[in-house]
Amino acid sequence: MPWPIHRPRRLRDNPILRDLVRETKLSPLDLIYPLFVVSGQKRKTPILSLPGQFHLSPDEAANVALSFAKEGGRAVLLFGLPDSKDEVGGSGADPEGPVPLAIKAIKAAAPNLAVITDVCLCEYTSHGHCGIVENQKVKNDPTLPHLAKQALAHVRAGADMVAPSDMMDGRVLAIRRTLDEAGFEDRPIMAYSVKYASCFYGPFRDAADSAPSFGDRRGYQMDPANRLEARLEVELDLAEGADIVMVKPAGPYLDVLREIRNYCDRPLAAYQVSGEMAMLKAAAAAGALDFKAAALESLIGIKRAGADLILTYLAPEVLPWL
Ligand code: PBG
Repeated sequence: MPWPIHRPRRLRDNPILRDLVRETKLSPLDLIYPLFVVSGQKRKTPILSLPGQFHLSPDEAANVALSFAKEGGRAVLLFGLPDSKDEVGGSGADPEGPVPLAIKAIKAAAPNLAVITDVCLCEYTSHGHCGIVENQKVKNDPTLPHLAKQALAHVRAGADMVAPSDMMDGRVLAIRRTLDEAGFEDRPIMAYSVKYASCFYGPFRDAADSAPSFGDRRGYQMDPANRLEARLEVELDLAEGADIVMVKPAGPYLDVLREIRNYCDRPLAAYQVSGEMAMLKAAAAAGALDFKAAALESLIGIKRAGADLILTYLAPEVLPWL
């Protein structure tokens, strides 16, 4: 081509043309806001490791959820911090625990907001692992009934959807069966299907008091070096009845997200995790990045890579910018 017939710059000439040909758009409908709930009343304690986030009692969670809904937010994801922990994470299935109480409070305050719950044992076990521990090992099959019980407690309290994040094999099927047997065949499951053993969860483990007391999670979460293996995780979870599949973390795994998008027709979520947010905040605080621009670019990158839904702590901050 001797002369530039094609000049991509033509469509970049002004904001109207750029708006017309923009391929990817972020919408308030894409965002799911994670909240950390505790027991009691009138508790709203800042989480030091997660700037801008709080430990919320059910009444305060309802306030936060309502203002999020008023800004156009459509869904929250709940994590619970129980008053007591044991070897098998029994408090996770307590119908009077912080998550069931928060579900009810949020549903009463903001009935149109979808309430999704994280299902895992790590916040509820004394050892901080996501499953039942025997001889210093996390056992897969003995963990499944405990996860299913917790999921059932959440849907009984009114959760619209459950999101298992434990990475035990077969847990989607175990939860699906338990929900169906109890008459909740209509409640969807969003599976943390492709969840890597990532250091970017660091600030979260502080916030959720869920750091493992020995070892690490590499025996059940995925190796960050693996891409091909993601397909098996997605296919297994879909075959077990998952309605939405997820990749987590998001930013460092955009290649995985895109690849799954290319073969998977089901709704796909990505979790911009605590460490990803911490990096943005720290860089902004150091004057290295403009926070608004960096936050929006990080989210559009996740959307462009293929996510339909993004779980992000930045949800309430970015909503007014969309
Ligand atoms: C485990 C769980 C984790 C996160 C969500 N669910 C932490 C882990 O696997 O150790 C991480 C979320 C984040 O870092 O923002 N139940």
